Amino acid sequence: MDEKKTLTDSEKYAQETDRQYRYMEKASGYVSSLAEKLGRTPTCCVTTFGCQMNARDSEKLVGILEKIGYQCIAEENADFVIYNTCTVRDNANQKVYGRLGVLNGYKKRNPHMKIALCGCMMQESSVIEKIRNSYRFVDLIFGTHNIFKLAELICAMFEQQETVIDIWQDTDKIVEDLPVERKYPFKSGINIMFGCNNFCSYCIVPYVRGRERSRNPKDIIREIEGLVQDGVVEVMLLGQNVNSYGKNLEEPVSFAKLLQEIEKIEGLERIRFMTPHPKDLSDDLIEVMKQSRKICRHIHLPLQSGSTRILTAMNRRYTKEQYLELAGKIRRELPDVAITTDIIVGFPGETAEDVDETIDVIRKVQYDNAFTFIYSKRTGTPAATMENQVPEELVKEGFDRVLKTVQDTAKIRAARLQGKVVDALVEEVNENDPSYVTGRLSDNMLVHFPGTADLIGQIVPVSLDECRGFYYFGKMVDKTDEEP
Ligand code: SAH
Ligand code: SF4
Ligand code: F3S
Repeated sequence: MDEKKTLTDSEKYAQETDRQYRYMEKASGYVSSLAEKLGRTPTCCVTTFGCQMNARDSEKLVGILEKIGYQCIAEENADFVIYNTCTVRDNANQKVYGRLGVLNGYKKRNPHMKIALCGCMMQESSVIEKIRNSYRFVDLIFGTHNIFKLAELICAMFEQQETVIDIWQDTDKIVEDLPVERKYPFKSGINIMFGCNNFCSYCIVPYVRGRERSRNPKDIIREIEGLVQDGVVEVMLLGQNVNSYGKNLEEPVSFAKLLQEIEKIEGLERIRFMTPHPKDLSDDLIEVMKQSRKICRHIHLPLQSGSTRILTAMNRRYTKEQYLELAGKIRRELPDVAITTDIIVGFPGETAEDVDETIDVIRKVQYDNAFTFIYSKRTGTPAATMENQVPEELVKEGFDRVLKTVQDTAKIRAARLQGKVVDALVEEVNENDPSYVTGRLSDNMLVHFPGTADLIGQIVPVSLDECRGFYYFGKMVDKTDEEP
């Protein structure tokens, strides 16, 4: 029998991990010769655009870069700059093109500088064409499916003159156990699945992130256990639709079940997740959240539109009524849970009446917070070729009305905790006043209170004295002062 065929998926991926470690050694050689030439440690900078998936991918990139000898810095005039791009809306793309011009300026002054582009934008062939033609100073281009081979790609970049381009259309590979360098010592994102199978008609993500693939629960648990040993107290489980986690595994596991397993990890204090799709949020999940001490009191439940007609055209697979019923159930069963959402205004064919329906849902659900986006046409998605694209003035009008409603309801919701003592995970020293620190509550609200940097990473009780719209001012209290 062919030996290759007898290997299980995880054995094959373990071989790939070993292969990449060998490339890391080789790449270290290139980086050390550069260091000799420069007379100092070469620097690198990874700039992330887009969502938490990309942020986590960037941590993986930084892990490999540091392993091979680069020193990561925040400034983009480094010896190696990687843009990890997003293409969910056109303005994300425009930002990248704008900033590439600035990078070219740096490169002209530093002949050793290398520039790489990766991430979702690179999965679009039109983007690759444009960069090949108009941004020829880019040294390396790769996509979302092959970031694990960064060291291998860096070797190729040092070995050849012309731009190295490696884009995969899709993958079934999940390569585990590569280096990761976390941005925060005390919290971390964890991929539980990759890709998306939902094909909402406006959305480019399924095209650039490929088909849905779940990680093995054992690998997820092992990774979280390792992180906890390393000081992490809060994890954010990441997937485009976490509700479909585990469905395609050899031994299927539900998301609710995965949460129960993660809950058991000793030393882990908080569990967050992003994003559940309203079409299949299960009663089991609500029940698990009800029982849980660790799952944070926050559900991000993207609405997109409150009009059933538009929801159907969006291929969201729920109606206004179904969404309201679900939100009502969450409010009833989990009264302390904050509900936040995403809304798109200006989807093809949307009328002022459709926007009224969206506003009606916002009023009924009383979101704790909402991100409102103007519809952006993404080439290749079904919505891009729909007739009735909405004129700009009309979109603007609808957008302003939605935004105003969201702000009004969020203000009312936010104030509900005023005067209470609540646990906050201290995340950073306050940007505006260094005598303050900023903490995150279980429901995702922020609180600023007097404190010092040594509190970072600790969960402390804070009295929420004053609500200022989307955040609180407060003070730390003794645990004994806490309300029963
Ligand atoms: N998987 C997540 C969303 C990922 S994209 C989910 O289903 O909720 C994040 C948000 O970007 C979406 O919720 C949507 O509101 C917005 N978005 C996606 N495509 C968009 C487009 N073409 N124009 C405007 N907003 C868009
Ligand atoms: Fe895009 Fe819909 Fe998939 Fe979310 S669920 S990533 S909005 S296609
Ligand atoms: Fe995220 Fe943007 Fe890609 S939102 S999945 S980085 S297109």
